[in-house]
Amino acid sequence: MKKYIFIFFVLFYADTAFSHSHYPITRDSLEAIKNGKILYNQYCVSCHQANLAGATNWQGLDEDGHRKAPPLNGTGHTWHHTDELLHRMIKYGFAKLIKNYEGKMMGFGDKISDEGIDDILSYIKSYWKDDIYEYHLEMSKQ
Ligand code: HEC
Repeated sequence: MKKYIFIFFVLFYADTAFSHSHYPITRDSLEAIKNGKILYNQYCVSCHQANLAGATNWQGLDEDGHRKAPPLNGTGHTWHHTDELLHRMIKYGFAKLIKNYEGKMMGFGDKISDEGIDDILSYIKSYWKDDIYEYHLEMSKQ
């Protein structure tokens, strides 16, 4: 668990060096959510599961000793990360962001456009409770 917290600490600081300005990402556009859902079902559902629920017993390790896919629906810690960091996690995968990363979250930047990634984030946010969503909007404005 300690290692996990450390990883996100590193990611967060690596991240702030490259800010751009289309954040925060909202869930206001039904079109974006719809497109995000299509992309999610194509690229993410196999690990993160239907309804973004994450793998069963996601806090444990899989048979290869890797972390399992966490829920993205607001019940895990996805909303602790800013939009910009989430975007980068999806675009580059953890391998580009964490030295010697051996887990299973790979990047999708060669398959999904930046707009597509933002649409997936709109879709993900459509699952979050209002208080988490509002909190995250404020957090991602910086
Ligand atoms: C091959 C399985 C797999 C696929 C496919 C996959 N992921 Fe992941 N994802 C993971 C794993 C495993 C983690 C946890 C990474 C770790 O801790 O090593 C993760 C972590 C994440 C996180 C960080 C979540 C958090 O709460 O910190 C986000 C966001 C994410 N994935 C989004 C996506 C999106 C969006 C897609 C589709 C474009 C996707 N993932 C496809 C396995 C996958």
